[in-house]
Amino acid sequence: MKIVVLAGGLSPERNVSLSSGSMVCQALRDRGHQVALVDLFFGMEGREGDPYQAPIPPAYQKVSPQAPDLEQVRSSRKDSSPSMIGPGVEELCREADVVYLALHGACGEDGRIQAMLDLLGVPYTGSGCLASAIAMDKDLTKRMVEQQVLTPRWETVTVTRDNLEQLLEETQLPVVVKPIASGSSIGVTVAHTREELRRGLEESVRLGGRTVLEQYIKGREIQVAVLNGKALPSIEIIPQAEFYDYENKYQPGAALEVCPAQIPQEWEQAVGQAALKVFELVGLSVYARADFIVTPDGKPYFLEINTLPGMTPTSLVPQEAAAVGISYGELCQIIVESSLQARKEGV
Ligand SMILES: Nc1ncnc2c1ncn2[C@@H]1O[C@H](COP(=O)(O)OP(=O)(O)O)[C@@H](O)[C@H]1O
Ligand SMILES: [Mg+2]
Repeated sequence: MKIVVLAGGLSPERNVSLSSGSMVCQALRDRGHQVALVDLFFGMEGREGDPYQAPIPPAYQKVSPQAPDLEQVRSSRKDSSPSMIGPGVEELCREADVVYLALHGACGEDGRIQAMLDLLGVPYTGSGCLASAIAMDKDLTKRMVEQQVLTPRWETVTVTRDNLEQLLEETQLPVVVKPIASGSSIGVTVAHTREELRRGLEESVRLGGRTVLEQYIKGREIQVAVLNGKALPSIEIIPQAEFYDYENKYQPGAALEVCPAQIPQEWEQAVGQAALKVFELVGLSVYARADFIVTPDGKPYFLEINTLPGMTPTSLVPQEAAAVGISYGELCQIIVESSLQARKEGV
């Protein structure tokens, strides 16, 4: 098959995505496909020759500990077009049998690329545009599932200089402050004290946009992938730092990941069922990964679901697949084939 792997893009998670894209590109090439790895934002700018033959840039492979400065990224593209889609990307996609979305975060995971590809008539991997857009919005997702799945209490606000003091006074502690549509823990603050809450709220003002203030749940962090209508064995994350932040996510060894999670059978069933329920209620397809905190009495609290979960060397879905004997290459192949089927069925 002719496959275009889209990665990078103008998202705080672009470096993570470039790493995912490199791995996916290599794995699909190893399986005999013709594969081009393209940065969604830079496209074919400065690239010569056939992208299907191009070697994978080694710089893509390791995720640096800091999220990139997007203004700098934006200004380093030569043209002054406001387009988020780099030169030549659309043409490459049109000629592909399938576009593999190795993108993460906004403009990738949020349904807009999916909508563009739908309109171009090009099949792509993962969930469709509407379900992707819903899952990107933590508030909307929680509202869709709260009747049937346990999720921490929350409030959604736009934090401004005008309401910051009032929120600081009225918000119950401990609380987690998180942007409504971020990922990779970027902008997430766990606040146990008013001082920490102030820092979190100020960060929200700086980031702009809406913010979820969510009841902090003390427990074990368990994540479960769904692949083709089944829950994979769950994975437990034991961060070395206070919580599973950006740095802990992408530096090998920064968090302990145990797969399958060493939890009682009933817990495993409960998180698996909850993940499947969210998947179904939001209308997702092919694959996704849901994040939970499980309390000491075994109650899984759903945090969020990721529709294009990471595929980097330290990522979790590949580890969960390996636990049931699915290799990284096979996982990519399954994702491609199931996605082609899903697009045919119009989901
Ligand atoms: N309500 C919560 N209680 C305890 N920890 C939380 C809560 N919400 C988020 N966290 C911590 O913050 C991390 C990131 O939050 P998450 O909702 O998964 O956002 P994202 O991964 O999209 O940045 C989680 O993996 C967890 O470690
Ligand atoms: Mg998460």
